[in-house]
Amino acid sequence: QPPLRDLADQQGFRMGAAVASHLLDDADYRRTAAAEFNSVTHENDLKWESVQPQPGQYSWSGADRLVEFAEQNGQQIHGHTLVWHSQLPSWVENGSFTPAELTQVMEDHIDTTMGRYRGQIQTWDVVNEPIGDDAQFRNSVFHRVLGEDFIAQSLHMARAADPDATLFINDYNIDGINAKSDAYYELAQDLLAQGAPLDGIGLQGHLISGQLPQDIQQNIQRFADLGLEVMITELDIRMTMPVTQQKLEQQARDYTQVMDACLAVSGCSGVTVWGVTDAHSWVPDHFTGEGAALPIDENYQPKPAYWSVHEAL
Ligand code: XIL
Repeated sequence: QPPLRDLADQQGFRMGAAVASHLLDDADYRRTAAAEFNSVTHENDLKWESVQPQPGQYSWSGADRLVEFAEQNGQQIHGHTLVWHSQLPSWVENGSFTPAELTQVMEDHIDTTMGRYRGQIQTWDVVNEPIGDDAQFRNSVFHRVLGEDFIAQSLHMARAADPDATLFINDYNIDGINAKSDAYYELAQDLLAQGAPLDGIGLQGHLISGQLPQDIQQNIQRFADLGLEVMITELDIRMTMPVTQQKLEQQARDYTQVMDACLAVSGCSGVTVWGVTDAHSWVPDHFTGEGAALPIDENYQPKPAYWSVHEAL
């Protein structure tokens, strides 16, 4: 059976995984990340706290390592992420800035980070999770100091930093049609009407097996109809542990549903799973009692969900 990336390549589709650069020391991990995926996303190594932990002190070792790996393996890279309220160093999160100062800080971070990888990172989550589950703008240093205009400003800075990059905003719980994705739909329309350089929307896709929204495809379609590129950027479909055959089969149907929803819409250009195997998934650490959310298990064996992805491609 051909690996996923070969099937994806045949149709110009991006099939990605989140990769942690320190895990590339493990031969099985390296081999699987290279063999199965034609795109990678830094799981943590490009986040602000990793890249610029202190003002003006940049640290690139983790981020560079994955960029080199991707180049060696002919993989695209989705840049994650520039402006986010989380995994933000405390000098930014708790800083007291005037609007002009914060703008300068953001510009420096965006310019330096995107500039370093110009021509190497094709797409970027410029702003991550600016809206909360209440469908209102999230409280963050960016929103407090600059108001909602921080999103448009970030996009303009990103366009200036790398005019060839495709610029996304990205969030969770906006996979189906709901109040939060409605807020994004309005935000996207606003940004486009103002001439902000927004190219795409990322639906993270952190989902619960057996509880998927039924209107993922319609939701993708409405963003595509605005002229935006859509990607599923962080797909995982978690289950309550322990794993049973029945749960694996439900999960396989769930993966089919998400893959088919994206592949049915011409503006939906890729799906990235949030981790290479179940052994490296963030789910068990962040959702008590849940796990086994990815298509490949902790022993690098394909699960029924893997064959769903394979068949969908
Ligand atoms: C997660 C990583 O997977 C974890 O290793 C880290 O401890 C926390 O962040 N939405 C995002 C991702 O945009 O950056 C998050 O990644 C998962 C939720």
